[in-house]
Amino acid sequence: MAISDADGARAKVLLTRLATRQAITSIDERDRELVDLLVGKGIVLRGGCDLASRIARPGGKRVCQNLVLGVSGAVYATHIVNYVWPLRYQFCERLNVVLTESARRFVVPEAFTRLGARVFGDLFALYPDVQVPHIELAQQADMVLILPASGHTLHKLSSGACSDMLSLIVMATRAPVVVAPSMNAALWTSPAVQRNVTQLRADGVYVIEPSIGYAVSASDDAQPELGGPGVSTINVANALAAVLAAHKSGPAS
Ligand SMILES: Cc1cc2nc3c(=O)[nH]c(=O)nc-3n(C[C@H](O)[C@H](O)[C@H](O)COP(=O)(O)O)c2cc1C
Repeated sequence: MAISDADGARAKVLLTRLATRQAITSIDERDRELVDLLVGKGIVLRGGCDLASRIARPGGKRVCQNLVLGVSGAVYATHIVNYVWPLRYQFCERLNVVLTESARRFVVPEAFTRLGARVFGDLFALYPDVQVPHIELAQQADMVLILPASGHTLHKLSSGACSDMLSLIVMATRAPVVVAPSMNAALWTSPAVQRNVTQLRADGVYVIEPSIGYAVSASDDAQPELGGPGVSTINVANALAAVLAAHKSGPAS
């Protein structure tokens, strides 16, 4: 069923009314049909039980004890602090964040430490209670997630570079490694980046394909394009839990 101009006008009034609690209790039958239509098309997310069932919260013990979150220097690093809450409260018991040098141009370490994560980055710095961070973090990790993964980081990891703390951790860990590339469409579709992604998959790395996003270089009237991170704050815990379960059950026969 399509949304007509008349429906569009009613929807505008309705959405304005829905912004207040009183309006929700006084919704009439015609508007209810319109709400169902908007929900069906995914334009409006219904709250209450329906919404709760879409955002499953793993109850009790979190499925991952130690998560290493590597943040590289893609512009989406500016959003990553928003992932800390769902990761810490829905997925892992302990969160260690590793920032590349470029990532630190986009986000400050304190943004993560204020939310209860430990932050690492400088390979040669001294950190309290940790002798050799890149080895200890690699050994303790139940999963290494790189979000966002820049084109440069994909290159380092696919060629086995051991050149900074993040690449050393990835090489030294035996835990599942998940990368979520984020870059503009031209970079993502380049033969070299695709070659690196193919190599990473062959090495057993889980790749979360990019979704649609805005390129940082986009002009005011630009359309969204392929290259945004493929996982959101809403589904990150469930997506990683699925990877962990699949990894534990071994390759499909
Ligand atoms: C403003 C700006 C935005 C950038 N955004 C991205 C991006 O979204 N994805 C990407 O792969 N590289 C991006 N880059 C380039 C990376 O920062 C650069 O390749 C860097 O060497 C990445 O280093 P790292 O992977 O070690 O963190 C951006 C650079 C600048 C200056």
